[in-house]
Amino acid sequence: MNYREDLDTPCLVVRKSALQKNIDEMAEYARQHGISMRPHQKTHKTAEIARMQMDAGAVGVTCAKLGEAEALVDSGAVDDVFLAYQIVGPRKISRLLALMDRARVSAAVDGVEGAQALSDACVAAGKTLDVIIEMNTGLNRAGILPGEETERLAEKVAAMPGLNVKGIMTHEGHVAKAINQDELDSYGGDAGKAMVDTAKRLRDKGIPVDVISVGSTPGSFSTTKIDGITEMRPGTYVFYDNAIFRFGRIGPERCALRILATVVSRPAPDRAIVDAGSKTLAMDPPPPDRKGHGYVVEEPDAVIARVSEEHGVIEFPSGDSSLAVGDVVEIIPNHVCPTVNLQNELFVVSDDGSIETWNIIARGKVR
Ligand SMILES: Cc1ncc(COP(=O)(O)O)c(C=O)c1O
Repeated sequence: MNYREDLDTPCLVVRKSALQKNIDEMAEYARQHGISMRPHQKTHKTAEIARMQMDAGAVGVTCAKLGEAEALVDSGAVDDVFLAYQIVGPRKISRLLALMDRARVSAAVDGVEGAQALSDACVAAGKTLDVIIEMNTGLNRAGILPGEETERLAEKVAAMPGLNVKGIMTHEGHVAKAINQDELDSYGGDAGKAMVDTAKRLRDKGIPVDVISVGSTPGSFSTTKIDGITEMRPGTYVFYDNAIFRFGRIGPERCALRILATVVSRPAPDRAIVDAGSKTLAMDPPPPDRKGHGYVVEEPDAVIARVSEEHGVIEFPSGDSSLAVGDVVEIIPNHVCPTVNLQNELFVVSDDGSIETWNIIARGKVR
């Protein structure tokens, strides 16, 4: 079979050997550094890939949303989930309590009110929830500041009867602003040090910190170099994307997921239209050193300059290209995770040409 001829477009194609290599390489890195792997599932949202990650030695998985966790636990692929997201409101808390009957669950907290509500619900249900304090090491999203702020919250949470403080976590996604490997190491190193220093403060106060968890694909080989980090939670690494391969460590050949698209119009010599627009590519901006809405593998200098819902407008800076109507191109998305969330299935291609269809069971599970 030839997937470029056999699959209808636009669709998501995954090269199985690249996927396996990405999973194995990160698993091996974690093993060599004595760090537990708890990969984030928001990138792929499929049971098959969760199983591949568990088979490669992951201790469990990370999910952002309860819905993702429910789908993956109920598929039988995973039974240990860290919810790296604040679980707020009675509906969510009751789903969390129900999930605790089907899997080992831990959850992030970053404030007294949220923690108190979880504790009260756990006490009422006769349960204890493992919680991880979320710290802000520079992304300025959720999470509290390292040092004193985290210490104060950890002391309060440790006194809550329904909760067990298991450790601390951060998503050091801000390291992606680095423009080269040295800057990446420096941002990652700062985040890692802030985590380890804060863990020491907590331990000095008698609060056990079993888990010091970091997570981001760009920071995977930087933040984790700091002694004392116990867990990593990369997500994007399974596929990689346009935002990642700019650091030079990997090239497009390691980007396991591509959008297969067909040229549907060639209205001008310097312009081609493909059947993948914003409803397929998603709308994340390119990394600072690139342009457009994705990387066209066959035409590395081309720019997907504009998208409307179902049209991708490719421009050729050289003024022309041999692409013709009916040709198929492969596009590496700027940010693979929202792209996956737009489709129902992945077409997974093996080196022998065979194609498997894997359902993206947790797509759209944003509640
Ligand atoms: C809490 C958390 N952990 C880990 C990750 C994984 O980061 P990446 O996709 O860069 O691997 C993310 C990504 O958004 C995240 O939000």
